[in-house]
Amino acid sequence: MDAEPNRPSRTSILFVCLGNICRSPLAEGIFRDRVAKRGLTDRFEIDSAGTGGWHVGEPADARAAMVAESHGVTLESRARQVTEDDLARYDYVIAMDRDNLAELERMAAGVEDAAELHLLREFDPAGTGEEVPDPYYGGASGFEAVYDMVNRSCEAFLEHVLARNA
Ligand code: 4NP
Repeated sequence: MDAEPNRPSRTSILFVCLGNICRSPLAEGIFRDRVAKRGLTDRFEIDSAGTGGWHVGEPADARAAMVAESHGVTLESRARQVTEDDLARYDYVIAMDRDNLAELERMAAGVEDAAELHLLREFDPAGTGEEVPDPYYGGASGFEAVYDMVNRSCEAFLEHVLARNA
């Protein structure tokens, strides 16, 4: 039996990019930080993964970790590859770009009652429906820009989830 029957159960969210070392670790870290600041940590399960497996086991890219630290957010994720089981288990799976989303839709096709899939920037108040561009081959300014759009979008996405589960 649920120990706290009047509280909604945990909402599980998986952020997904290609390598799981730049964009989705930023989204995971920022979302985790905002949830913690509201005292809602026990209401969420938050993780990130990549559609590709090249960086499995690695910490976040140093440039992503640095931009996050400069905003007071510590990235603690280790890269892993998204699985079909994730699509069955999570409530929301949130893609950074359309390639990620297409791969997730392909994986979800064989899964009963699969996760709700979205592009993160569907929630961006400054430009809905866009992608979070891959910053891997660019410079530090690209990471700052990615931080800003992921930050805005994560805050709005959290509001969306809380409004839905209120
Ligand atoms: P991410 O960035 O998808 O935001 O983690 C990338 C990281 C690594 C590679 C591509 C994108 N890569 O090709 O190794």
